[in-house]
Amino acid sequence: MFSPSRRQLLQTGLAASAASLLPHTALARVDEWLAWDEQRPNAVPGPREQYLMDFNWKFTFGNLNDPAKDLGFFAFQSDYISSKTGSFTFATAKFDDAKWRALNLPHDWAIELPFVDDQELMAHGFKPLGRKYPDTSVGWYRKSFNIPASDFGRRIWIEFDGAMRTSLVFLNGCYIGRNDSGYTPFRFDVTDFINYGGENYIVVRVDASKGDGWFYEGAGIYRHVWLTKFDPLHLGRWESWVRADVKGHDAALSLGTVVRNRGKKAETAVVHWKILDTDGKQVGAAASAPQSIEPDGEGKFIASATVRDAVLWSPETPHMYSAIVSVETSGTVRDGEEVPFGVRSIRFDVNKGFFLNGEPVKIKGTCNHQDHAGVGAAVPDAIQRYRVAVLKAMDSNAVRTSHNMPTPEWVQACDRMGMMMMCETRAMSSSAEGLAELETMIKRYRNSPSIIIWSMGNEEVIIEGQSIGEHIVRTMVERSHELDPTRQCTAAINQDAGKGASLALDVEGINYSLGIIDGYHRDHPNQPLIGSETASTVSTRGTYLTDKLRNWVSAYDVNRPPWAELAQEWWQFYAAREFLSGGFAWTGFDYRGEPTPYGWPSINSQFGIVDTCGFPKDLFYYYKASWGKEPVLHLFPHWNWDERIGEPVTVWVFSNLDEVELFHNGQSQGRQKMPALGHLEWKVKYEPGSIEARGYKGGQQALTAKRETTGPVASLKLTADRTAIDADGRDCAVIRVEGVDSEGRTVPLADDLVEFRVSGEGRFLGVGNGDPNCQESDIEPKRSLFKGLAQLIVESTANAGSIQIEAKTQEGHIAPAQLTITTGTPALPGRTL
Ligand code: GAL
Repeated sequence: MFSPSRRQLLQTGLAASAASLLPHTALARVDEWLAWDEQRPNAVPGPREQYLMDFNWKFTFGNLNDPAKDLGFFAFQSDYISSKTGSFTFATAKFDDAKWRALNLPHDWAIELPFVDDQELMAHGFKPLGRKYPDTSVGWYRKSFNIPASDFGRRIWIEFDGAMRTSLVFLNGCYIGRNDSGYTPFRFDVTDFINYGGENYIVVRVDASKGDGWFYEGAGIYRHVWLTKFDPLHLGRWESWVRADVKGHDAALSLGTVVRNRGKKAETAVVHWKILDTDGKQVGAAASAPQSIEPDGEGKFIASATVRDAVLWSPETPHMYSAIVSVETSGTVRDGEEVPFGVRSIRFDVNKGFFLNGEPVKIKGTCNHQDHAGVGAAVPDAIQRYRVAVLKAMDSNAVRTSHNMPTPEWVQACDRMGMMMMCETRAMSSSAEGLAELETMIKRYRNSPSIIIWSMGNEEVIIEGQSIGEHIVRTMVERSHELDPTRQCTAAINQDAGKGASLALDVEGINYSLGIIDGYHRDHPNQPLIGSETASTVSTRGTYLTDKLRNWVSAYDVNRPPWAELAQEWWQFYAAREFLSGGFAWTGFDYRGEPTPYGWPSINSQFGIVDTCGFPKDLFYYYKASWGKEPVLHLFPHWNWDERIGEPVTVWVFSNLDEVELFHNGQSQGRQKMPALGHLEWKVKYEPGSIEARGYKGGQQALTAKRETTGPVASLKLTADRTAIDADGRDCAVIRVEGVDSEGRTVPLADDLVEFRVSGEGRFLGVGNGDPNCQESDIEPKRSLFKGLAQLIVESTANAGSIQIEAKTQEGHIAPAQLTITTGTPALPGRTL
């Protein structure tokens, strides 16, 4: 099915990303790798068809208080839902949406709003959402689509991967249903409401006035929407599982699924599983016993299979298999789906930490929210992969989906690119709603090899130490084990370790609190420990003097809020204790909201090891030196200190070599032994020129690093993460924008305003610069550089060709830059609506 070169690319793509020190080049081959996924559906038999419904929506703001500005929605109690089915004319051909704005999903309208100086909005990033802001808290989405007459008799589902937040869905004049979670996918069987052989009108009213968490959450339909056509006899949604048990060289697979019969007569069905290797070769098969399913009934089908000489999944070799599951009656395939899975073993040991495939593996993780520069919460799939690649480039091997069920493409990227996950549900609750969210999360992702543990929630400080917390979590854990007997459960506990909820956890998750960990381990000889949240170190990229007036935090590893830990503090502590499975630093990426340690005008967090664009702060190299195997020598700060001539400047090195000697303008400043998992420090009297570090391993010089005083910005420079992307109307290139001097060196303090023009077969999507205090718009094609850098995101159109990008400043002496991205291979032919 694939040429050897494609196969090689799949396997070497990882090495290419991990080997790259610079995240903007880390993705070189991920597109090749992911192309695999686009081709797999060809292997799935049966009449099921799935269409991406992201394109050609119309959008307008509604209003929380004024029905006149909200399509008249519920101006009176007697309106709409309480009256007649079919009365919602806005979801019919009679309604004219010509004045609404055209857009594609995913969409986050919060990112488009201005920042508002209201203390109450701080945690969510100062965006005007909430009952106090009725004009910007409700959005209406509308779209029409055609369903052929020949589809009559099939089941039709519309599925939302997630929307923020309360969504009311209408189709062809009828109210269909609602969803309240901002993170859980929801779907409706709309078979009876479809206009077969004509146009259909779907409308979604999204009310984002109530948040779900205490961080930036976006607003609107920020994940994909799908329409799926099924046979009335079909596989239940997310009911299939593949559990792989490693047995010597082989994998024993336990297989299961649920078949639903929405037809009018009983059917005798058989389920088949075909196990495919990465290159599409069949490596196993199984079939269930036949079973009769009544109309409107369902049947559970199970079987087992063996994969000989199974290739194990790990972060270094993220080898994936697929189970092609199909249901047949009298030899006819009625439905089929692909279930990607991996073969690996996991175990948490109370004294020896975490084991993957029988080997101890320290979890070197980061927590992350789900927004990115320029796009907010509406993160395109390509940016999900970019984000995983950035973290892999730091030699991180795990992420925690704090504090909510993740976007499917984030999990998919972790599976394919090799990143373990702690997958966390939003609410610690065993209410019907809370359990339903947990169940959906587990069913949706239980086949993903990247997920190594489920989290029942985070810092539920009101209940976690109480018996009510214990009861709730016990119910949640029991349900999790029923749905997925292969994984253990934890929760991120802060102040109440050992009480309440902790009593019901398989693995105790501890947030921060280094002081209690040894005692906890001693007093709980049967409960393994994981650092569910650590660090919360704060730093501003490229900034070396803390300046409270400017809301800058120096990027040396010296700043943390009182509850938190410096990078060196927590990692030295965790590395020294075999019983600790590892931990998740708060956070990998900076995110909007929570601008600790400051408030307005700061609008995003400073906790990240990389900024909101994914540009590394210096700490990135501390982690890389501590976590990875490659030699690292990182020297900072920059060497442009005109205003500090003759004054002492603190110079730091992060490295995993043995010794480092520092030179300033050729003069040795001393050679020092590198402390393990620490840093080196010199005080150097500043003179323009350079600093240079020479790193030694086993007495031999192994690496050098230099920082030179640069000249002013002479030209702009553009570098894309990928120079060829798919022409599918949704693939993206992430472009690093730099101000460089006449010798091509990045100017570390450059803050010029850069304007962009995107033409050809591409669209401007967004901009960012990682500055936690920058209130420039993310959706206008211009951005100031911050400490020399900015990021531009462009998206392909659905036509093959090329995208031209031009960048210029208003300063005549700064040379503009151009870049061309080619677009080809439309990835979704005939699969969009
Ligand atoms: C933690 C919390 C995170 C974040 C962090 C900031 O207590 O779990 O969501 O708020 O503090 O340090």
